[in-house]
Amino acid sequence: MNRLEGKSALITGAARGIGRAFAEAYVSEGAVVAIGDINLEAAERTASEIGRNAYAVKLDVTDLGSIEAAIRAVEAKAGGIDILVNNAALFDLAPIVEISKASYDKLFAVNVAGTLFTLQAAARSMIARGRGGRIINMASQAGRRGEALVGVYCATKAAVISLTQSAGLDLIKHRINVNAIAPGVVDGEHWDHVDALFAKHEGRPLGEKKRLVGASVPYGRMGRAEDLVGMAVFLASSEAEYIVAQTYNVDGGQWMS
Ligand SMILES: NC(=O)c1ccc[n+]([C@@H]2O[C@H](COP(=O)([O-])OP(=O)(O)OC[C@H]3O[C@@H](n4cnc5c(N)ncnc54)[C@H](O)[C@@H]3O)[C@@H](O)[C@H]2O)c1
Repeated sequence: MNRLEGKSALITGAARGIGRAFAEAYVSEGAVVAIGDINLEAAERTASEIGRNAYAVKLDVTDLGSIEAAIRAVEAKAGGIDILVNNAALFDLAPIVEISKASYDKLFAVNVAGTLFTLQAAARSMIARGRGGRIINMASQAGRRGEALVGVYCATKAAVISLTQSAGLDLIKHRINVNAIAPGVVDGEHWDHVDALFAKHEGRPLGEKKRLVGASVPYGRMGRAEDLVGMAVFLASSEAEYIVAQTYNVDGGQWMS
């Protein structure tokens, strides 16, 4: 399949996990993909493992200068940007009465401001080029409702869903489609970290939270990054031309909305 033939994509936080799986899929669909990550060494390793049509770009989504530099690097390498996936995010966990300002600031800086200002820079570049584009934001089932220990992360992902709606409505006149994907629980290094935090806060053995959340998914197991790839390719493809400002649950049946 070559559904993204000739397209130039930037995926933030793509050195590992879900972003990496998207980068592999986009390259196999014919795109040239920038692996944007704060961890440049890991991004370079990932790009070289994916192959010739992937390249690493140093990107800290909390730094406007770094975002601009990454967009310029993509323009220089690939002639412009057709697809942005706002995937970089951080997670933390604490009871409401113990949430620190530092944790709040860090999560909102990466998950919300990072999403908005990377989207803004990419949209400016797409508008100047006049060929439209696709922007896909990574939301979460955590953005659909609160969770006792996950207040800040849930709030950041609710903000991502809201920004997807506003940006989607504002940018469609430029033929830039903004949509989002809301995964459920996806196994990988991210969830190893989440599991360790739950172990600490709920006094569980390591691995137990993962087992419990996996068992609670109607599909019968935790998600895998590959489970999200079909939606990520579809939303970036011409087949999704008429889809605007939506957030799609891809979560094995965990949430309905
Ligand atoms: N894994 C899950 O269960 C799950 C569930 C729902 C939603 N999501 C969302 O999907 C996305 C990807 O999740 P994942 O599990 O692959 O995460 P991950 O933690 O494995 O990967 C995140 C990547 O972002 C990079 N990053 C962190 N801060 C950055 C910054 N300031 N600038 C640029 N890059 C930065 C990291 O270096 C890392 O490579 C995230 O938005 C996450 O919130 C994940």
